[in-house]
Amino acid sequence: MKLEGKTALITGAASGIGLATARLFVEEGAHVAIVGRDAAKLDAVRAELGERIVTIQADVRHVDDMQRMQDVVKQTFGALDVFFANAGVAFSTPLDGTTPEQYDTLMDINVKGVFLSMQSVTPVLRDGASVILNTSWLNQVGTPGLSLLSASKAAVRSLARTWSSELLSRRIRVNAVSPGATDTPIHARGGASAEQVAQAKQKIASRIPVGHLGAPEDIARAALFLASDDSRYMLGAEIVVDGGFSAL
Ligand SMILES: NC(=O)c1ccc[n+]([C@@H]2O[C@H](COP(=O)([O-])OP(=O)(O)OC[C@H]3O[C@@H](n4cnc5c(N)ncnc54)[C@H](OP(=O)(O)O)[C@@H]3O)[C@@H](O)[C@H]2O)c1
Repeated sequence: MKLEGKTALITGAASGIGLATARLFVEEGAHVAIVGRDAAKLDAVRAELGERIVTIQADVRHVDDMQRMQDVVKQTFGALDVFFANAGVAFSTPLDGTTPEQYDTLMDINVKGVFLSMQSVTPVLRDGASVILNTSWLNQVGTPGLSLLSASKAAVRSLARTWSSELLSRRIRVNAVSPGATDTPIHARGGASAEQVAQAKQKIASRIPVGHLGAPEDIARAALFLASDDSRYMLGAEIVVDGGFSAL
């Protein structure tokens, strides 16, 4: 097992990529603290995955919540071997019609939330710990209507480089995982009907070289590699897991 006896914290772990990663980390022997805003969803994950899961209801945008998150980690684990900053949202923000409130929501969750959660865990990270930031294939390309989502993920990509450098003396490695279109609940959160979501996914799939969206488990496997000693010589790097979308 690759994470036997290790402790991990994953934000946004009640669904999608975060949940798949929590499952895999538990299978690989880790104790995992999962963070999200919905207590019922977190409880359901604990019911499924068992006693090695600790739930923390918190919003990554709020300093008080992040302080409480640090307190719980200290009390339950003492220190962290792995932190996966995964919580995020995705919606389109065309120049025409996007409101300042939508700007704040997207940037506050996707960028400020990553910053505040990292600030809160840094004191409890063990020397030699691994931090994984969830960015997106969008950080490298221009897609109409997705300026803020793409810019937020480019910021996250940049944080992996800077924090690796800032935490070098503690041997803490910060890397990014960059999913392509992945089949998770995120695509249905904008209020579109099930049929519209299915059509949108089909359209995206037709543009992906392998012909289908990624599974959350595909990203979880990359996160496991970055979390474990298998990636011990990697820092400030990015693993793209996108079915060839951004490369072919
Ligand atoms: N799916 C894709 O195609 C894709 C592609 C590239 C990158 N990504 C990135 O992958 C990450 C995970 O997304 P996903 O696809 O797995 O979608 P998801 O199932 O919607 O997962 C996002 C999680 O983040 C949590 N979250 C959102 N806002 C939060 C906040 N303010 N505080 C705490 N938790 C919050 C959500 O839980 P609650 O709402 O219950 O709090 C949810 O569990 C995101 O950063 C996303 O940008 C996804």
